[in-house]
Amino acid sequence: MDTTLPSGEREHPRPTRLLKRGERLLEPDVYLTHLRGRPAVIKDYGRYRRTPLSPFARLLVRREARVLRRLRGWRHAPALLGTFGLALGIEFVPGVPLGEAALETGSAVFQQLRGAVAALHAAGITHNDLHPANVLVCGTTPVLIDFASALRTPRWLRRLPPVRELRRSDMANVLKMQQRLTGEPPSPREAALLARPRWVRSVRSFWQRHYRRLKA
Ligand SMILES: Nc1ncnc2c1ncn2[C@@H]1O[C@H](COP(=O)(O)OP(=O)(O)OP(=O)(O)O)[C@@H](O)[C@H]1O
Ligand SMILES: [Mg+2]
Repeated sequence: MDTTLPSGEREHPRPTRLLKRGERLLEPDVYLTHLRGRPAVIKDYGRYRRTPLSPFARLLVRREARVLRRLRGWRHAPALLGTFGLALGIEFVPGVPLGEAALETGSAVFQQLRGAVAALHAAGITHNDLHPANVLVCGTTPVLIDFASALRTPRWLRRLPPVRELRRSDMANVLKMQQRLTGEPPSPREAALLARPRWVRSVRSFWQRHYRRLKA
């Protein structure tokens, strides 16, 4: 489905509330507005228009739109409402960030969250940026947002170690959040499954050693 907004709606909608100002490199301004009569969130990279970074901003918009399009109808991701230039219109999720959700709903939310991330992986997608601000909780339903770093992998590449590592890292982030927010530690089986493989530990320590030297 082509979700590029029709020409009459390509102008940036008027912001009703700024949710987050993009401050770091290639971070969008995120604001609340109305699109076609529904509350919507706009991720706007407009400040990069006519700059050398504009193609990268466009790529981020396209990538996130492509993943959201792929997840259309899934209750753990918001619907894509459209793209216009360097901005993305997304269904507003009326939830609270995971870090602020009531602790008594914690277990139920995390059970669903683990299932949602497993389903995402089964569809060949890794999120790659799972932290409490990127999971909104509506009632007891977790909704994943911010697919800017997500990666879709064709079926024939899914068993490669780097891709398995991305899946492991997504799930490890879920278990870390669970432990931090509910106090529930992972079971020994989960902990073993989620331990960093040796090759990842070696690459990390190599990188850290050299990065420290570079900084010095
Ligand atoms: N669909 C949505 N519904 C409700 N709130 C949202 C939605 N999308 C984003 N937000 C709010 O805006 C904040 C920033 O959005 P998001 O996480 O997508 O951008 P970001 O982290 O700045 O972007 P990026 O990682 O792509 O640079 C979220 O933490 C959340 O509070
Ligand atoms: Mg985010």
